[in-house]
Amino acid sequence: MEPEQAGGPARRRRRCWIVTVIVVLVLICILALGLGLSQRQANTGNDFKSTFLSRCQQFQGSNCQRAWDAFQQAYVNRDPCNVPVDAYDPFITAVTLKPQCNRMMFWSKTKEVVHDFNEKKNCFQTLEDTFLGSVLDKLTWCGKDGSFETFTTGCPAWNECDNPVRSFWQRASAAFADAACGNVTVMLNGSIATPFDPSSIFASIEVNKLKSTQVNTLNVVLTNCANPSLQELKTKLAEGINYNCKEVPVTQIQECGSDQEKACGACW
Ligand SMILES: *[C@@H]1O[C@H](CO)[C@@H](O)[C@H](O)[C@H]1NC(C)=O
Ligand SMILES: *[C@@H]1O[C@H](CO)[C@@H](O)[C@H](O)[C@H]1NC(C)=O
Repeated sequence: MEPEQAGGPARRRRRCWIVTVIVVLVLICILALGLGLSQRQANTGNDFKSTFLSRCQQFQGSNCQRAWDAFQQAYVNRDPCNVPVDAYDPFITAVTLKPQCNRMMFWSKTKEVVHDFNEKKNCFQTLEDTFLGSVLDKLTWCGKDGSFETFTTGCPAWNECDNPVRSFWQRASAAFADAACGNVTVMLNGSIATPFDPSSIFASIEVNKLKSTQVNTLNVVLTNCANPSLQELKTKLAEGINYNCKEVPVTQIQECGSDQEKACGACW
């Protein structure tokens, strides 16, 4: 213990110093935080690229830098409302889509049920399970006229215009359906008015791409096979592709997903 100083001024001066040091430390913290945040904002494009590359690298044998170059040339230095579907052709050509015949699955308005089932049970392959789909799943991106950067904020909404995200999913869906082979499955939503919705990607793009030279049967899985919109689906199928519809309650799909003992073919 220091002996008590004679009088208060020395102690007061020391307290003053301590307060000054604390204030300076707090200021430094605030500055550092602000700097870090603005840097993070400026770096969203780099974060997007590193997400792309790290997801890409999870697929063996992919040349990820080459894939990135081909991908971003589709939308950088372009009006984000004027990115046509075929802008992604070089990217689609640069990556290989490995179709798994008899295991391919399409979906429309059933994404959650389908992906929940696929995560639990390795029975089917959706577009989001392929290289093409998994690298970009749940991401948003766009470019800007006069810039070679990738932006992840301030991008057009899905329905706004010919935006880079929607055009990509349209192009990737076409590639996935182009590669479809064997018996393919589609899970449609039987609790809505038009399970086969003409504006959906499945109805407007994928169905038209299924080739009778590659696809044997389209198996529709939903809760209401009598729905009139399915007549439309049948007429859209290329001649030679068989059509099957099986009514399966959603609860049965969920239960089978959780039942590791059950074989894929026994779910419905
Ligand atoms: C069908 O669509 C409804 C309304 O969008 C949704 O709540 C429901 O989860 C969907 N069913 C399936 C099986 O995905
Ligand atoms: C494909 O579907 C047809 C008709 O439903 C069936 O006869 C055939 O066994 C299926 N093939 C495979 C590999 O599942």
